[in-house]
Amino acid sequence: EQINKGKYEHYMQKEIHEQPESVTTTMRGRLIRGGSCKAKTVLLGGLKDHLKTIRRSRRIVFVGCGTSYNAALAARSIVEELSGIPVTMEIASDLLDRQGPIYREDTAVFVSQSGETADTLLALEYALENGALCVGITNTVGSAIARHTHCGVHINAGCEIGVASTKAYTSQIVVMAMLALAIGGDTLSNQARREAIIDGLFDLPRKVKEVLKLDEEMKDLAKLLIAEQSLLVFGRGYNYATALEGALKVKEVALMHSEGILAGEMKHGPLALVDENLPIVVIATRDSCFSKQQSVIQQLHARKGRLIVMCTQGDAASVSVGGTSRVIEVPQVADCLQPLLAYHLTVLRGYNVDQPRNLAKSVTTQ
Ligand code: G6P
Repeated sequence: EQINKGKYEHYMQKEIHEQPESVTTTMRGRLIRGGSCKAKTVLLGGLKDHLKTIRRSRRIVFVGCGTSYNAALAARSIVEELSGIPVTMEIASDLLDRQGPIYREDTAVFVSQSGETADTLLALEYALENGALCVGITNTVGSAIARHTHCGVHINAGCEIGVASTKAYTSQIVVMAMLALAIGGDTLSNQARREAIIDGLFDLPRKVKEVLKLDEEMKDLAKLLIAEQSLLVFGRGYNYATALEGALKVKEVALMHSEGILAGEMKHGPLALVDENLPIVVIATRDSCFSKQQSVIQQLHARKGRLIVMCTQGDAASVSVGGTSRVIEVPQVADCLQPLLAYHLTVLRGYNVDQPRNLAKSVTTQ
């Protein structure tokens, strides 16, 4: 049943539409709703014997490639916020090229859908040699990364066939949000924040279903963009990863040049590209970066940018800048969970979506 396309034309499309169920399976048995006297909490069985060591670590290093790296980046700030431990990001091949410093006091988290990606696996061996505590986050029970790490969490997203990762991305972020909750102490001062995130996670499948209703709107948008050479995606804060992942999907699936840009860097180069022809997606949902993104929209508009703005439901008027722009509204979610929803914006053109040319599902050679 899992490896049959059912009513869908492509596995990728099917896997996108499976997300309300896949994120539910990821959370099953791990999020505790809490009774009248019990706090809402998270239980990650695969980590329980190592949580103390993780909490004592000097830093957390996230390691991955492609979409898995982007998922880790999406979760970085919530892990830092709840754990108080600095998180650094490593693309596996780059960590190996640099032979970057990894210490015994580090917790290194290896994120990989397949659990078999050669660079991630070699980076794991390198971190083990250097004495770090190694945690695996994979979708494949019994994979090399699952076997060689000290402990870990399976994302349980179900089999993913499309070469470009989709539902695994959302489930990886859910796991890392739960990881942040599990590492972070349950103190009085952060209780409200923790509960809001847990409530947001419980509500996520419903919100994902709502976002999937944007399918037709996405198709219309894709028609507008089909002949374009290039697409920029601007994000910041929680949504910088969304911008990178959105651009990666457009690149690998639609075979169109696309770049994810950290909006805070706009004036340091990207602004030179802006004219009336180049389409630009700006992610401007309600979070602590919202007013800064409003100002980015104004500045892009002043240079006649062709804008497609993605905002929170009800915010269309606050982000609109005249006739050239198009606005897409998505449901409101807890700020750190936004990347999950925004993700659907990324499927803009349809070539052979399940097997993009020159790419492999699992890159097991260097
Ligand atoms: C390949 C796939 C990507 C994936 C990356 C990392 O490039 O095409 O979709 O994100 O490998 O794979 P992993 O299995 O380690 O998550």
